Amino acid sequence: MRFDSKLPDVGTTIFTIMSRRALEEGALNIGQGFPDYPIDPRLTAALVDVIGEGRNQYAPMEGVVELREQICAKLQTSYGRSVDPHAEVTVTCGATESLYDAIQAVVGPGDEAVIFDPAYDAYEPAVRLAGGRCVRVALTPPDFRFDWDRVRRALTARTKLIIINSPQNPSCTAADGADLDALAELIRDRRITVLSDEVYEHVLYDGRCHASVLAHPELRERSFAVFSFGKTLHATGWRVGYCVAPPPLTRELRKVHQFNTFSIVSPLQYAIARYLAANPGVWTGLAAFFQAKRDLLAARLRGSGFEPVPAAGTYFQLVDYGALSGEDDMSFADRLIREAKIAAIPLSPFYAAPPKMTLLRLCIAKNDATLEAAADRLCAFAAGRSPENL
Ligand SMILES: Cc1ncc(COP(=O)(O)O)c(C=O)c1O
Repeated sequence: MRFDSKLPDVGTTIFTIMSRRALEEGALNIGQGFPDYPIDPRLTAALVDVIGEGRNQYAPMEGVVELREQICAKLQTSYGRSVDPHAEVTVTCGATESLYDAIQAVVGPGDEAVIFDPAYDAYEPAVRLAGGRCVRVALTPPDFRFDWDRVRRALTARTKLIIINSPQNPSCTAADGADLDALAELIRDRRITVLSDEVYEHVLYDGRCHASVLAHPELRERSFAVFSFGKTLHATGWRVGYCVAPPPLTRELRKVHQFNTFSIVSPLQYAIARYLAANPGVWTGLAAFFQAKRDLLAARLRGSGFEPVPAAGTYFQLVDYGALSGEDDMSFADRLIREAKIAAIPLSPFYAAPPKMTLLRLCIAKNDATLEAAADRLCAFAAGRSPENL
């Protein structure tokens, strides 16, 4: 049978490719973003308890109310905003489902969505499946700052959505209040919705505060804000995220969510709700926790030839290998897997038209021993020694 793919050019993600190559070559994988340390045992205990208590049937479509109330309490503490758990919060299958649902809810055939390169890879396929197309505005290394005049020039009568991500994966930069003001000003007289991917809301370094659209008086009225318990509770495999949006946007998002996943694993929701109720503010230590890991890795790599690029947030650290090689990042990353036995993520797949750069993304959400072992291998490679001679 002849079959026309709707996404003919989409293959497996760069994360899957690099993780597979790491397995094939027996390399240490500090590319893909997941922790190699356990979750809080109190969270494990809460899950065992709620399963034992029989919380094992369908959860309500919009999410377990106990969890939505905890989310609202958290948002009140973090952003000083009172959010209605019934009309403005939807629990989804990771942040990924929130992103997908929001895109399907507002983008239609012929519509345009502005995204910023290097862009997290889940945005564009969802826009295309909705019949729309992405207009990609590049952020240029090394500082990856927003150029709002360029964004203004990218807007057309068909622009329906602007997708921002802060702290930004993979550039490790963060938007500030002035960026949000510029965005608000840009869309003030246009019918454009904002989709704000804030999964790294609590991973900001050096005393920075997260600029959430929820704390912005204009943007919160026209934004979907997307969050992930995977990141906040070190439990990426639980796949629990949520979307916060004003009631009219939430109503539209739920129409998609209802027929996409319908509802999310109920014991996981009850367990997170119980854990947050018993341990309010568990996320407040995250910035310091990850900053220590960033500093550990950066200190070990500085001067090695893998130069750490200043990182404002996310659980990644970029390194510039330009002093070692002028090779393109895909080939260099593959050579690193073979010769240094280290898997890292190249940046070019996150761009439609990659600029010339020699950057790789390393994940710092790892045990200190893993980060030290990775740094040792990278330093040995840079010094021309093989990993067997460490
Ligand atoms: C920027 C960004 N958005 C969304 C996600 C997806 O989050 P989740 O695992 O909760 O679906 C990730 C995961 O790495 C991410 O880095």
